[in-house]
Amino acid sequence: MGTRLQGKVAIVTGAGSGIGRACVLRFLEEGASVVATDIHPSALEKLAREAAEAGGKIVTVAGDVTRREDVARIVQAALSAYGRLDVLVNSAGITPRTVRAEADFEERWEAVMAVNVKGTLLMCHAAVEAMRASGGGSIVNLASVMGTVGYPTHLPFSDGFNAYPQSKGAVVQMTRDMGVRLAAEGIRVNAVCPGFVYTALTENVTGNPEIHELMKKSHPIGRLGTAEEVANVIAFLASDEASFVAGAIWAVDGGYTAQ
Ligand SMILES: NC(=O)c1ccc[n+]([C@@H]2O[C@H](COP(=O)([O-])OP(=O)(O)OC[C@H]3O[C@@H](n4cnc5c(N)ncnc54)[C@H](O)[C@@H]3O)[C@@H](O)[C@H]2O)c1
Repeated sequence: MGTRLQGKVAIVTGAGSGIGRACVLRFLEEGASVVATDIHPSALEKLAREAAEAGGKIVTVAGDVTRREDVARIVQAALSAYGRLDVLVNSAGITPRTVRAEADFEERWEAVMAVNVKGTLLMCHAAVEAMRASGGGSIVNLASVMGTVGYPTHLPFSDGFNAYPQSKGAVVQMTRDMGVRLAAEGIRVNAVCPGFVYTALTENVTGNPEIHELMKKSHPIGRLGTAEEVANVIAFLASDEASFVAGAIWAVDGGYTAQ
């Protein structure tokens, strides 16, 4: 489709599903060499087959972004395979809903913060070292509209103690702070804030017809987004076309936070 990411080496976390998966396929179309990582090895195997069918080849590494040794292994895989690192997309993320059923609010909070905040932090920390050695780079973090506004009151887990919006608020601030600190070194750190997007993460919303309709109406554009629409913006931010974009928080939300 393009050459936006020609010659770039990219790591995508959470690549087994949703937005991460869409980024991998989009990045391949744009000429990138991609290392795809996820906690679910079977999802990575499926993705590698899909990539091959589309004429692309990816390196896959199974790992947990909350574990420092896994994170080191993921970044090392990019360096071993391609000798450099230019792009990191932090798409691994969970909601309280996906934590084990018996968990109380504290356990859910810790689990969500671990993946969404600590996972993003550890990946950035390891990637920045590799990017410095490569002469610069671009990091795109997956925040959310929930990182800038409160959780919709008609959804489950809207009791004010949901870690999801808190975790995404942290990702927004992490992005700004790293963006400010690293810009002069040629490492651009930005975040996207998607509205509600059709993925496994939002199945509780889209699986309930009443809530689904409500959520469509909450987006001025009148619908939810697709993973591909988010990947389009991420591909741009990852590329040199976004060379003057640093520490920025990009809404990709059909107008959700503009109202
Ligand atoms: N779908 C939406 O509406 C939406 C909106 C705003 C932001 N986001 C954010 O975008 C990102 C991607 O979401 P998605 O909708 O594609 O979700 P998804 O559930 O479809 O995919 C997330 C992937 O992350 C992986 N993952 C979970 N925990 C992990 C861990 N500890 N280590 C490694 N991988 C792990 C999962 O296995 C899964 O493949 C998340 O950070 C999410 O919070 C999603």
